[in-house]
This record gives sequence, structure tokens and C-alpha cells, in this order.
Amino acid sequence: MKTVQDYIRTIVDFPHEGIMFRDVTTLFADPRGFRIAIDQMLHPYAGLQIDKVVGLEARGFILGGAIAHQLSKGFVPIRKKGKLPGKTISEAYTLEYGEAIVEIHDDAIQPGEKVLVVDDLLATGGTAEAGIKLIKRLGGEIISTSFIIDLPDLGGRARLEAMGVEVNALCAYEGL
Ligand code: PRP
Ligand code: MG
Repeated sequence: MKTVQDYIRTIVDFPHEGIMFRDVTTLFADPRGFRIAIDQMLHPYAGLQIDKVVGLEARGFILGGAIAHQLSKGFVPIRKKGKLPGKTISEAYTLEYGEAIVEIHDDAIQPGEKVLVVDDLLATGGTAEAGIKLIKRLGGEIISTSFIIDLPDLGGRARLEAMGVEVNALCAYEGL
């Protein structure tokens, strides 16, 4: 029986030389692969109260939408700067080259709501940390974060855990 990791394709030297790109589109495209990924991401949260599912652009939308639907909860996007039409708050984070900014609608999370954060991949943790800061600024409580892939050597898991945030991932790739 194939595992989630078996459905993930590795593209060598994308987006530039030396990078092993972990491509989840092959997992999403497979009906069994996509189902077992969503089921396994949900597994740790059985019986827990979750009020909102937050997805990080872009692949976090695909996963977060399916998870929110399964939980019968609302879905909230965190998007790259300039994409959300309403009033937003923003956080900057560091990329390999330069800086990026993510935003959330300022009325998307109510104070005290219990939030699950979802994305496809955890690398340095910069994207997830910026998202967590946005949710906390709105008064949300981070219940957990859920990823398909953890790249532990890039430090994201340690970074989020140092913030007191739980990290769940379906698989890990050691090495860079
Ligand atoms: C990738 C990935 C995560 C993020 C992880 O997204 O989907 O969101 O990087 O990296 P980090 O832990 O070092 O922050 P990317 O920024 O490439 O954008 P996309 O999802 O919109 O394609
Ligand atoms: Mg992303």
C-alpha cells in the first residue's frame, strides 16, 4: 500500500539549481493520495474543538479547504500582500532573497477562536510564523499547525515549537 510520501514527486533543480522541489501536485491529483493525506492530517484533532481552519497561500488553500469541509468549520485564507479585498492586517517575513508580506482580513478571526493552521510544507517556518502572528493579533488561539511535509533541517519545526506551537506533519525529508 502506498504511503502519502510515495505520491509526492521530487523535481531536481527547481526553482533553481541545487533545490530538490517536493511537488505535492501528484499527491493532490491522485484520488486515494489526496484522501489519505486529508484523513491523516485530521487524525490528531479527533475530538478537539476547532473553530476555524486557516490556510496559507497557495497550497494551504487546497488542504485547508478540504479539512474545513470535513470538520464543518469555516475556512480563512492568509494571502500574499494585495490580494484580499477587505481591511487587512499584515506581517512581513524573510525569504531566501528579500522579504515577503502576508495578510489576513481583520474580521476573519474572532477573539478566543480556536484555529488550526494548514500548509503543504514547513521549511524555515517563516511563512507559518507570520501567519501565526496574524492570527494571534486578532485574538485567535493556535490549536496546532498541520503540514504534509516537514524539512526539519531548515529549522521550521524547532522555530514553531519554540513559540509554543504544536507541529504535525505527515512525512519528513532529511537533508537539504
Ligand atoms: C512554500 C510552501 C510554504 C512555504 C514554506 O510556499 O508552500 O508555504 O514555502 O517555507 P518556509 O517554511 O521557509 O516559510 P511559497 O512561498 O513557495 O509560495 P506558494 O505556496 O504560494 O507557492
Ligand atoms: Mg506556500
